[in-house]
Amino acid sequence: MARIETQFSCQACGAITPKWVGRCTQCGAWNTIVEETTRKKSSSRSGAPIAFSKPEPVSAIDADHAARVPTGMSELDRVLGGGVVLGGVTLVGGDPGVGKSTLLLQALAALSQKGCRALYVSGEESAGQTAARARRVGVGSDDLLILAENDLEAIERAIEETKPAVLVVDSVQTVRAPELESAAGTVTQLREVAARIVERAKRSRIAAFLIGHVTKDGTLAGPKVLEHLVDTVLAFEGERGHALRTLRAHKNRFGSATEVGVFEMTSDGMREVPNPSAFFLSERPKNVAGSIVAATSEGTRSMLVEVQALTVAASLGSPRRTVSGIDAQRLAMILAVLERKSGLHVSGCDVFVNVAGGVHVDEPAMDLPIALAVASSLQDRPIFPDIVAFGEIGLSGEVRAVPRAEARVAEASALGFRRAILPASVAAKLRNPEATKLQKSTAMDLAPVASLDEALALAM
Ligand code: TYD
Ligand code: MG
Repeated sequence: MARIETQFSCQACGAITPKWVGRCTQCGAWNTIVEETTRKKSSSRSGAPIAFSKPEPVSAIDADHAARVPTGMSELDRVLGGGVVLGGVTLVGGDPGVGKSTLLLQALAALSQKGCRALYVSGEESAGQTAARARRVGVGSDDLLILAENDLEAIERAIEETKPAVLVVDSVQTVRAPELESAAGTVTQLREVAARIVERAKRSRIAAFLIGHVTKDGTLAGPKVLEHLVDTVLAFEGERGHALRTLRAHKNRFGSATEVGVFEMTSDGMREVPNPSAFFLSERPKNVAGSIVAATSEGTRSMLVEVQALTVAASLGSPRRTVSGIDAQRLAMILAVLERKSGLHVSGCDVFVNVAGGVHVDEPAMDLPIALAVASSLQDRPIFPDIVAFGEIGLSGEVRAVPRAEARVAEASALGFRRAILPASVAAKLRNPEATKLQKSTAMDLAPVASLDEALALAM
């Protein structure tokens, strides 16, 4: 017999409360608590006998080897860890309009052209709209099936009938399990829909993608509810007004969670950017104060980006600090070190820092290039051309080691840079030819620095 129950849950973090409150007691978000009606089955264990599993020694168990199918879109494959995994479920989150539907439709199209049966379920657009998009990004294989549907049972039936190898549900927030009374997109529904698709994907060895919209504060709606259910969580991001898109893994049971895929949104779909450094540096001005190239590292790849700073005398009140593509807290720390340890008077200036190209880089190795760009703008002296820099700055003004120096230097060398300002501690290791694969013939001149002051003296 079924019983009707009511609960209140937070749409941001999934916390359950017994009564309605204006502010979630778990995550502190306002106005996110909604009432949900859940129908529960009265008894789960009745009738059929239950088979319990027994623990076994680890050596006696065969390891699972994930069956992977590369999509052929190498930037996507890089983030996934080599391709889609049959039986693996991936949650793809991002702001509305960033291009989630376009990316995944292209991925399905590419897989269908290799003979993989692919099912694209759209709960947001009609089949006709999805087909029009598919034509726009240039697809046409009969193994790509489109279904416009919100009803979970109908979707399950379609999966049963068509037996796809890859499935996209766009979006998980629009699908509804009809036996639950709450509306689509509520935590109860999300949990049920995701759990049932995960269960089916595992059982039928389907590589499934769930598309999820992100709420205003940047979290997936009902994020914790879904994140632990799926194998991989990807975030698709892009700055408003820029064509650049990055795909990052936040969790990946089948690969590294540090890789980033880079795409460009064009009028005929998502184009891969296999050489992001060249893309980011394409419009770099030469011999201008306040501009420097930073060697960043994401996963196994190093990317060169241009850091730009502009300082102007602050007029009234407290000076402004405006950032794009870096962390504002980090800039505040770097400005404090420049002021106190290097004697640069940044406290009376408005400071603007931007990473060109609309990319966001969040790693300590950006400290040194940011500091050099600010100092260069403040003193109105350009940084020497053909220089790249990377390194973390400590509160005493010391330059500290960062990982993967070799890859950063190699990327800079490949793009024609001649000199790298880098932490002294990592330069020592790079100079030892035994410890590095870096070719001796490389034309890079390594300029090791132990402090920010040394770096300032070398850069300008
Ligand atoms: P979409 O994939 O629908 O985003 P999401 O699913 O994340 O909400 O893409 C939305 C935007 O992308 C839309 O404003 C139109 C634009 N677009 C292109 O620029 N080129 C294309 O080839 C396509 C299909 C869309
Ligand atoms: Mg969409």
